Amino acid sequence: MIDVNKIREDFPILKRKIHGKQLIYLDNAATTQKPIQVVEAIKDAYLNYNANIHRSIHTLGEEATEKYEDAHRKVAELVNAKTWREIVFVKNATEALNLVMYSWGMNNIRQGDEIVITIMEHHANLVPWQQLAKKKGAKLKYIKLTEDYRLDLSELDKVITDKTKIVSVTHVSNVLGVINPVKEIGKVAHERGAILVIDGAQSVPRMKVDVRELNADFYAFSGHKMLGPTGIGALYGKEELLESMEPFLYGGDMIREVKLDDSTWNDIPWKFEAGTPNIIGGIGWSAAIEYINKIGIQNIFKHEEKLTKYALERLSELDFIEIIGPRDLKDRTGVISFTFDDVHPHDVSMFLDQLGGIAVRAGHHCAQPLMRYLGLTATTRVSFYLYNTIQEVDVLVDTLKAIRKVL
Ligand code: ALA
Repeated sequence: MIDVNKIREDFPILKRKIHGKQLIYLDNAATTQKPIQVVEAIKDAYLNYNANIHRSIHTLGEEATEKYEDAHRKVAELVNAKTWREIVFVKNATEALNLVMYSWGMNNIRQGDEIVITIMEHHANLVPWQQLAKKKGAKLKYIKLTEDYRLDLSELDKVITDKTKIVSVTHVSNVLGVINPVKEIGKVAHERGAILVIDGAQSVPRMKVDVRELNADFYAFSGHKMLGPTGIGALYGKEELLESMEPFLYGGDMIREVKLDDSTWNDIPWKFEAGTPNIIGGIGWSAAIEYINKIGIQNIFKHEEKLTKYALERLSELDFIEIIGPRDLKDRTGVISFTFDDVHPHDVSMFLDQLGGIAVRAGHHCAQPLMRYLGLTATTRVSFYLYNTIQEVDVLVDTLKAIRKVL
């Protein structure tokens, strides 16, 4: 298991006082804190080898290029891609999904085709497909939920049909915390000739992901939810698919040759990384992955599981709290949404901050269709990561009790 106290030393922000209380950071599904090692790697890059990549024939340029390319290798290893060329660096998971929508979707979806997603999708994995369907006259279909907040796969054969061209599913819900059976869904999608796209924004930070084992065609994720900086993420795509696709953005570095009336494209992944990319972001993310690898992703998963088990038990003691998501640990991560009688989640969040120094997220969590489906407008959400402790869960529960007394 992991040594949380030692880990916490790497995160100076956790020593901050918020309204006189020790910060308790439980908003990790939104973004995680950054360890000194990541900040130092970014500082080192800016202070010692800052240069543009792929264009500068000088030592700094070569060093920056090597580090940036090495970051692609680290990400490729993390998700077990066949080659680092299958990793395209983008701004975030949202951009990764938009890349698939524009480059693959716009060229392959025709009128009458079907796109299947789920009702629990984050807007990032919903709005692009909704708009693609509208533009192309395709039909957008949703997989719904069972009573226990898991995907209802009983009618999967009917939802995914021979007309389905894209099935796009979140691996882990950012609201319900459930881990979806993406491999099984992918099998049905592939049998029907559809591609499988996975939104991995909440899975890659906390569990072992193997894109080849899952047989994902595309897999989208972000750096900032796993100790890395904001503004850097990746799209994994199967080599043959990326090779066959048109670029999403045109400009410098993505070309092989430009003539007055036509151009040819660079090799993957550069074909999809037009303009000066987020070089330092990639280097910072690489340091974050090194940090996670030292601890072990399975250990992070187990640690979160321990916290989740304890939090579910403790929150269940509170009769004014209703957990929105599975109450057992089966196929579940440390993202826990709840409602607090008729108190608005924004008020709950504000009081948690004021009374307990506790940071959580409150609102629709960029999943308005899910909220509407559940008959809710908003929830309060806590989400754990490797530096959280059992004691912090106790403070959360005590503070919720204190809020109940005040309101
Ligand atoms: N997608 C992030 C969240 O769920 C921002 O909070």
